[in-house]
Amino acid sequence: MQPIAPISYDYSGLIAPKDAPAQVRETGLIGPDLKWLAPRLAAARQNVLDNLALYERGGAIPEELQPLDAAFFDLPERLLDEDRPLLDRIVTAGDRLAKEVDRIVVLGIGGSYMGARAMFEACCHPYHNEISRQRRGGRPRMYFAGNNVDNDATQGLLDLVEGDDDWGIIVISKSGGTLETAVAFRVFLDAMQKACGNDMEKLRRRVIPITGEKGRLRELANALGCSDIFPIPDGVGGRFSVFSAVGLLPGVVMGLDVSHLLEGAAAINERFRTSPPLENPVLDYAGMSRLMETRRGATIRVLSTWGNGLESVGLWYDQLLAESLGKNSQGATPLTVVNTRDLHSRGQQHQEGRRDKLITNLIVEQTHREWLAIERSDFDQDQLNALSGKTIPDILQAAYVGTNQAYAEDHRRTATIRLPRLDEASIGQLFQMFMLATVVEGRLVGINPYGQPGVEAYKKNMNAILRGK
Ligand code: PA5
Repeated sequence: MQPIAPISYDYSGLIAPKDAPAQVRETGLIGPDLKWLAPRLAAARQNVLDNLALYERGGAIPEELQPLDAAFFDLPERLLDEDRPLLDRIVTAGDRLAKEVDRIVVLGIGGSYMGARAMFEACCHPYHNEISRQRRGGRPRMYFAGNNVDNDATQGLLDLVEGDDDWGIIVISKSGGTLETAVAFRVFLDAMQKACGNDMEKLRRRVIPITGEKGRLRELANALGCSDIFPIPDGVGGRFSVFSAVGLLPGVVMGLDVSHLLEGAAAINERFRTSPPLENPVLDYAGMSRLMETRRGATIRVLSTWGNGLESVGLWYDQLLAESLGKNSQGATPLTVVNTRDLHSRGQQHQEGRRDKLITNLIVEQTHREWLAIERSDFDQDQLNALSGKTIPDILQAAYVGTNQAYAEDHRRTATIRLPRLDEASIGQLFQMFMLATVVEGRLVGINPYGQPGVEAYKKNMNAILRGK
């Protein structure tokens, strides 16, 4: 196992200077806030660990704790150890499918979609689908569908695959009954049946369902006789399922080293268990964000990402936070921005608008590729010769430092999460840090982070309208 370069959470920018005037101290956190917080974080951690132990004992779960989807916590360690045969099976099936086809359509929505999408954008070539198969490492192109109800987008994707038989489907739904995914599967399965003709054996190899032990998708998968079907374990909720086959199978197909992903997550578990509050990225992120919300009115949590590859990671986190803690008329509002792009759209408001935002930067320390520099030019009308030799990372760094300085000068507080590289080990750490922090925060404030009862309302109405019930 390679050593894991650790991610970090730096909250020093949230602390108000001791000697600042009272109205400035009120914009940030102060010593007594942290003193108040530390024992509560320790208690919340104990609560999360106790709940895991309770879940794993397998006895009755008290009503006030239901649902208790605590099993996501040690999925990484289990897959790397006693459940290794399952991980091996996922890798074998993913490699097989990747070898047999040139395009994969991944169908799923919410927690059955966003993790794989985030890994694709963070860890694959930014133009993966456009470059040659050889430059893609022999991996297929990846397309995501079933995550919306969009006629023209669905038709557009059908245009790409219809008439060919060199594509495959990964269909993901824990309940097996989500309408968006089910409808998309009906459409793409039909196209696949036409492509395979009478060759049912081929079809069975081309379609890999990932679903719960029971439900309509499981029944359909059994009826089709798919050669590989993967489970979503009990006790793992949709938005906490990225380290099950839900994230791992698409990850393997797109060419990621999923062991590194799991090792990154396991490294965060270790830090979560052993590092004291105020030196623990999971506890500190949960605690500081919460304090800024309740004591400083920062009800909007801006994840300020620095790099295109992080946008979908931010959208994955938006769902995690919103669905987990947006309950009982509570819960901060998540918002992902990508800089410097969004400095030209939301920047004005974040600099001078309502003081209701906590900005957490998400930045990557090393690039994968050589640094591009500004070259001298005979055409200097743009006056960039003055910057010749400066690289794109230099410019990004100047923008990052300058932006945070401007916020600080106006007493707008920021924190920063740093990833050593945009790779599987860092993304594994980040996913697990955010999932655990969300659960810790829920336990800190008495909101059950699992389940999403509010989402049922629209589903019920939509089904009633469609089925006339
Ligand atoms: O976090 C969740 O549980 C949800 O976002 C689900 O993932 C989403 O609703 C899709 O559900 P399913 O996997 O059952 O199709």
